[in-house]
Amino acid sequence: MNYLRNTWYAAMWSHDLKPGQIVGRTYLNEQVVLFRSNNGVVSALDDICPHRFAPLHKGSLVDGCKIRCGYHGLEFDGEGACVRNPHGKERIPAAAHTRAYPVTEKHSMIWIWMGDQPADLDLVPDFQLIDDAPPELVSRRDWMKMEAGFELVVDNLMDLSHTSFLHDGLLGNEATIKSDTKVEQSGHCVTVDRMARNVPVTKFHDLQFLRDGQPVDLWTKITWQPPACLVNDNGVTRPGASRSEGTGVYGIHFLTPETETTCWYHFVAVRQNPVYHGEPLDTEIREQIAEMRRYAFQEQDHDMIRAQQQAILRSGRSLKELSLESDVGIERYKRVLRGLRQAESSVIDKQKSDRDTRIPQTLTAV
Ligand code: FES
Ligand SMILES: [Fe+2]
Repeated sequence: MNYLRNTWYAAMWSHDLKPGQIVGRTYLNEQVVLFRSNNGVVSALDDICPHRFAPLHKGSLVDGCKIRCGYHGLEFDGEGACVRNPHGKERIPAAAHTRAYPVTEKHSMIWIWMGDQPADLDLVPDFQLIDDAPPELVSRRDWMKMEAGFELVVDNLMDLSHTSFLHDGLLGNEATIKSDTKVEQSGHCVTVDRMARNVPVTKFHDLQFLRDGQPVDLWTKITWQPPACLVNDNGVTRPGASRSEGTGVYGIHFLTPETETTCWYHFVAVRQNPVYHGEPLDTEIREQIAEMRRYAFQEQDHDMIRAQQQAILRSGRSLKELSLESDVGIERYKRVLRGLRQAESSVIDKQKSDRDTRIPQTLTAV
């Protein structure tokens, strides 16, 4: 698959990689080993020892900062250089190195750069709203592995009309299908803004709002930014009132391809404009938000998207056969993503052709 490569992907939540811990993961079909030194520094290397291709994640951390291959003991630093060969005269062969991937930590997340171009720290997606929120308003930083390609999950999020059916009663209901919908693009970001007016309140929103079961206006304003980071400004207010008089969450979603048919899904929610604030309500609401979202994503979305992925693979058919009005946001973000991939591919092709034309000239000169 043609992935966008020169960009930051969410690798794993920072708290899931403790000092001294080693984790093997696959991103964009490449096996990567991540480890955190005792001093807290995160490194990511190609998870294949250059000697006999043993996965390095089966090794151990030595001196608190180097990874030792579990098979014959070569040791590598965080840059992928072999720094110890315990065999024979202990000479380190020139080929004894492994690729290091740029990583950085921001917004409670470890980000990884899978491309060959220099990593640009300014391009880390901006999710400062997680850092700025009072911790008591931030739900569990959760994750799961999806047995579906990442675009199917982004499609799911960019068409929230599915909440009326797949999450009936929990996040939407039959009445919310009639929403005023706007799709907007700003630069490379695509937003789908939906407003359902005077509809029965859902369980998720009643928990956070007036707890009276009365009708509400319900909005979902979800923004995708490349490669696969989304924030869903989602809440309810009294019918006819402004959004600022209501309450809700910013639902944050990070997708990272694992393989063509699997992906990593990291998510968290930040409460906005809370009606209830202070203990023990913050803890209670935070936990319930986390549980409801986990249930919706795992038992409802994942169950459906996994089956959808299997049906696509079995049938070999294209998803383009039928599209509805609610698919506009999906089509728009895919167009942006396709454009970025094409731009990246043409840069890579140009570099290759520059290299190819340089080689004969060099040979001629020799
Ligand atoms: S396979 Fe790693 S040292 Fe031999
Ligand atoms: Fe969903």
